[in-house]
Amino acid sequence: MTKTGAVVLAAVLLTGCSGVQRDPPIQVWDDMKQQPKFTPQGANDLPFLADARDARRPPEGTVARGHMMEQTAYFTGMDGDLYVGKSPVQFTPALLHLGQQKFNTYCQPCHDKTGSAQGIVPIRIPTWQPSNLTEDRVVQFADGDIFNVITNGRRSMPAYRFQVSVEDRWAIIAYVRVLQRAAHATKADVPADHTAELQ
Ligand code: HEC
Repeated sequence: MTKTGAVVLAAVLLTGCSGVQRDPPIQVWDDMKQQPKFTPQGANDLPFLADARDARRPPEGTVARGHMMEQTAYFTGMDGDLYVGKSPVQFTPALLHLGQQKFNTYCQPCHDKTGSAQGIVPIRIPTWQPSNLTEDRVVQFADGDIFNVITNGRRSMPAYRFQVSVEDRWAIIAYVRVLQRAAHATKADVPADHTAELQ
């Protein structure tokens, strides 16, 4: 065999292109590939851990960060058995901006930008008609009622609790109130210095 031939043969044999290997490789020096360790959800045999689990159970009553959902009006929209009448969150320009952004993301596809229920979904699927959020019936809703519709859905409207955080739900409600106010605006709502622009 020529010298080059031997080098090529050695390269092929030594690079370990073994294809599919079903048995564990034989390890002459295991280089710490095998060693005792904890694995998530694994069993362990440390004698002082009576339950033999690797992952320790959190102490009773542990709450994950950011998941402290107490049974208060803010988290449930309820006051005892009744819907909260007025939002527990103070309306501010920042809240309305957040509400606008979230409404346009999560509600607008069905209810449209003005809340009048002519979004792209009912245009494409005429049998799936949302409620007109600016009609009197919905204007009369308690804030907590709207909170509940977003959280749990209602009739043919799906729930949005996983997409829309509690904070965002109250912001959306504030913005829905703005849309309702705008839909029922009268000449008297136009600031005096703009009345001249009215046709
Ligand atoms: C996938 C479409 C869809 C989206 C998105 C959607 N809705 Fe609805 N919504 C509906 C439908 C359909 C109804 C009418 C339910 C019925 O009467 O069967 C409805 C009804 C409502 C009602 C009135 C319930 C009633 O009793 O008439 C409110 C309030 C409401 N939606 C708020 C929201 C808000 C706020 C959002 C955004 C977080 C939202 N919806 C997102 C489809 C949607």
